[in-house]
Amino acid sequence: MVVAWKHEQSAEPPTSPHKKKPDEPVNLKSLEKFGIFCKRLDAETIACKDDPKLLAFCKDNDYTSSDVLTVSKDALKNYEETLKCFFHEHFHPDDESRYVLDGAGYFDVRNENDEWIRVRIEKGDLITLPAGMYHRFALDDQQSYLKSVRMFVSEAVWTPLYRPNEEHFIRKEYLKKYNIDLPTL
Ligand SMILES: [Fe+2]
Repeated sequence: MVVAWKHEQSAEPPTSPHKKKPDEPVNLKSLEKFGIFCKRLDAETIACKDDPKLLAFCKDNDYTSSDVLTVSKDALKNYEETLKCFFHEHFHPDDESRYVLDGAGYFDVRNENDEWIRVRIEKGDLITLPAGMYHRFALDDQQSYLKSVRMFVSEAVWTPLYRPNEEHFIRKEYLKKYNIDLPTL
């Protein structure tokens, strides 16, 4: 199940939970205003990218292609370097839409006060971060592994646009679409 909490900045590695003490949970509903979409699917029955329910979701959201990416030491050639790129704050020109087939990971996003919110995803979770929304990603140190279906509006490419990139039209369109006025911009 997707869960979120306020991220505690510390010297712990990105893969640690980074929870405050006491924990400050964040209601997923409160993230909808940033365009984040989360849904729980039955991972036992939807276990591949060609599942009809997943294909229906793709059709409804105009995602025309998909692939399966495994993020782990064994599966990635440039594991350390790739994870560094994932954790460098960025946005994409397209939605980042993922359905988790196995494993777990963290997306960090910022709230209206520019505070980090950590969103944990695991097997069976579907999440979409809209085009233009800054975020970063880390694996969960309990599993160090994430296998997910990546869904794309056009071709299957991962294009990061690193912060700051406020003048990019995708970023401007995002802020306008969700009527977001961030204090740091
Ligand atoms: Fe991303």
